[in-house]
Amino acid sequence: MDGTSDFRKKYEEYLNIVNNALDSSLATDDRPGAEIYNAMKYSLAAGGKRLRPVLSLAVCEMLGGSKNDILPFACAIEMIHTYSLIHDDLPAMDNDDYRRGVPSNHKVFGEAMAILAGDALLNKAFELIASHMRKKEGDLTACVKAMEVIASNAGAEGMIRGQTLDINSECCELSEDILEYMHRCKTGALINAAVLAGACIGGAAESEYEALAEYAANIGLAFQIKDDIMDVKGSTDQMGKPSGSDAISGKNTYATVYGLEQATRLLEGSVAAAVDALACFGDKAGFLRDIAFYIRDRNN
Ligand code: IPE
Ligand code: IPE
Ligand code: MG
Ligand code: MG
Ligand code: MG
Repeated sequence: MDGTSDFRKKYEEYLNIVNNALDSSLATDDRPGAEIYNAMKYSLAAGGKRLRPVLSLAVCEMLGGSKNDILPFACAIEMIHTYSLIHDDLPAMDNDDYRRGVPSNHKVFGEAMAILAGDALLNKAFELIASHMRKKEGDLTACVKAMEVIASNAGAEGMIRGQTLDINSECCELSEDILEYMHRCKTGALINAAVLAGACIGGAAESEYEALAEYAANIGLAFQIKDDIMDVKGSTDQMGKPSGSDAISGKNTYATVYGLEQATRLLEGSVAAAVDALACFGDKAGFLRDIAFYIRDRNN
């Protein structure tokens, strides 16, 4: 991980909280069919950067909210993200055999189990949120809003919309505008959900919520531009997923549409805009600023 040691330390702290919560979120049972949990746990426990839940925790904490109140939402978002990766790797989609440094879910459990494991993780995500809300006392308005933000950003107007465009535009050329829209949807939307769930549970004022939405939109786009660049320049070993996959599938990416140099400039522009959007938070937003730089500089 790049960045200062303070940043790395804080990131590790959040990462451990998230990993512990995720570990205890999938209890298995001994009834027939419980093997679905093996497939679910395989991808969830394989790791990954946990960027989205880290963002939720960091935003909520910056606003003075409690980690325990945001944790179920953060874990739910990571489950949705993990399901999207399992499905994204299927032969019917990107046909990638390697993910998070290990064989993709369908390579180990077969395509049918991989589809079911993804479906089950999506359902588990909302079960986690609902059971947190059932136990919580007091006003649930912020929880309901966070849940709505997550559902809408993960769905047909968010991540799924982006994945639809991605799949339907293989081997045809997208305009710059539609490419940007696709990236904002397929990747930006869930990052948006992570930041805004943190804003809801942290009790953001309207102006803070708007600033965080602007931050989220910019790091979300930056994240996918960097992903596109790494697909060309990165190594399979470092990324834990195959490099060169976009070219094989005939994807539209920032690398193919703009070339690497211009894509890098656009990445830097989005990161700068993300940092600007945090101005109203002053020093409190140091960690979120560092996340924007981390997204730019990462190599996995
Ligand atoms: C990969 O996401 C898929 C994209 C949205 C580009 P990440 O790069 O966050 O994957 P993990 O969670 O670290 O494995
Ligand atoms: C995936 O985009 C976005 C998702 C919603 C999963 P990519 O297809 O570029 O992600 P990677 O490169 O396989 O991780
Ligand atoms: Mg894809
Ligand atoms: Mg893919
Ligand atoms: Mg990619």
